[in-house]
Amino acid sequence: LIEAVGAREILDSRGNPTVEVEVLLDDGIVQRAAVPSGASTGAFEAYELRDGDKSRYGGKGVLKAVEAVIDELGPAIEGVEASEQRVIDEILIEVDGTDNKSRVGANAILGVSLAVAKAAADSADLPLFRYLGGPNAHLLPVPLFNVINGGSHADNGIDMQEFFLAPIGADTFSEALRWGTEVYHVLKGELKAAGFATGLGDEGGFAPDLPSNREGLEFLIKAIEKAGFTPGTDIALGLDAAATEFFNEGVYRLDNKDWDAAALTDYYVGLVNDFPIVTIEDALAEDDWDGWKALTEKLGSQIQLVGDDLFVTNPERLQKGIDLGTANSLLVKVNQIGTLSETLDAINLAHRSGYTTMLSHRSGETEDTTIADLVVAVNSGQIKSGAPARSERVAKYNQLLRIEEELGDAAVFAGRSAFPRFKG
Ligand code: PGA
Ligand code: ZN
Repeated sequence: LIEAVGAREILDSRGNPTVEVEVLLDDGIVQRAAVPSGASTGAFEAYELRDGDKSRYGGKGVLKAVEAVIDELGPAIEGVEASEQRVIDEILIEVDGTDNKSRVGANAILGVSLAVAKAAADSADLPLFRYLGGPNAHLLPVPLFNVINGGSHADNGIDMQEFFLAPIGADTFSEALRWGTEVYHVLKGELKAAGFATGLGDEGGFAPDLPSNREGLEFLIKAIEKAGFTPGTDIALGLDAAATEFFNEGVYRLDNKDWDAAALTDYYVGLVNDFPIVTIEDALAEDDWDGWKALTEKLGSQIQLVGDDLFVTNPERLQKGIDLGTANSLLVKVNQIGTLSETLDAINLAHRSGYTTMLSHRSGETEDTTIADLVVAVNSGQIKSGAPARSERVAKYNQLLRIEEELGDAAVFAGRSAFPRFKG
């Protein structure tokens, strides 16, 4: 039974405050969870409550959310069995009482929801992935390493937010981690040799001031080859355009040019023809449903089209996408929806509907590794947690190494099969 719930304000990887929650059970178990925070947030995400008091952290404090955990959410679930995750999440939603969790804050609610799951797992003496996923949880994900950071994650001129290495040809997760890391280091040398800065962006990738988005992909190919791998077969590429960020009044602004959705779609077709790209996320803006539909008709049979800001891990928005035939993959961010149960609902809906899923960190992260367990629990097969650098990114990959070890012979690396529409 849940005996007490506590909370505190801690810092995330960008030096902004965030919520950490601790749950104490009557058997003495204590577990904690910390909440991540985005920069290129979707308009339809659950609400992140910040104090707005400019005298603290520039208004970004989260003391109100912390107070809501201590005064309202905690007392509402005290005495409830910690394994009753769905009951608890419903109580949390009810206490808030709004559609988008804006009264007490999705950051308050998520912290409680995740800490409860971890405490329940610990109390059952199970690793979190096993507790959440049951006996069939066995699939180790392809890590998508965001090795070049642009958009709102870096102060360079690159419009697209994320350039991924996807080591689909590796035999195991640990091998994929090594391959991606080796290429990451070679990439640094290549950028340096070409006269670009090698400082890091918010997700641990390099943030060079490249003249075009296409150039980013070219650097990745060069680095993959120089590190001794074959582009496409060993290591494929991916993008998160985060297109909402460069969409304004009906116009996409990319590479210093204006584009409509059709022209931008043709641009993506060109990239997919020229590079071994297996996945593109948020290729178009969060409300451009018509553009998304046309894009899916053109490219959906060749590559994975991931909805992040488009779906915001929200089963209702995902259902709309499924009905309209937009995208073919769901990006999963626990804090976009705010409870573990709703996150699992979105994942199940995606899988039932033939959509793939990719578990995701946020650009503002903490040392919390819940998503590493979650990705194995649901057999998703894909995770993005930034570059193989900076502890808040690497913490998730390191946790996956531990899970791989724990699973032993039962572990299966998703590899190429994680991308059913892989074009080679
Ligand atoms: P965010 O970016 O965490 O800043 O929203 C991640 C993403 O767009 O996938
Ligand atoms: Zn995204």
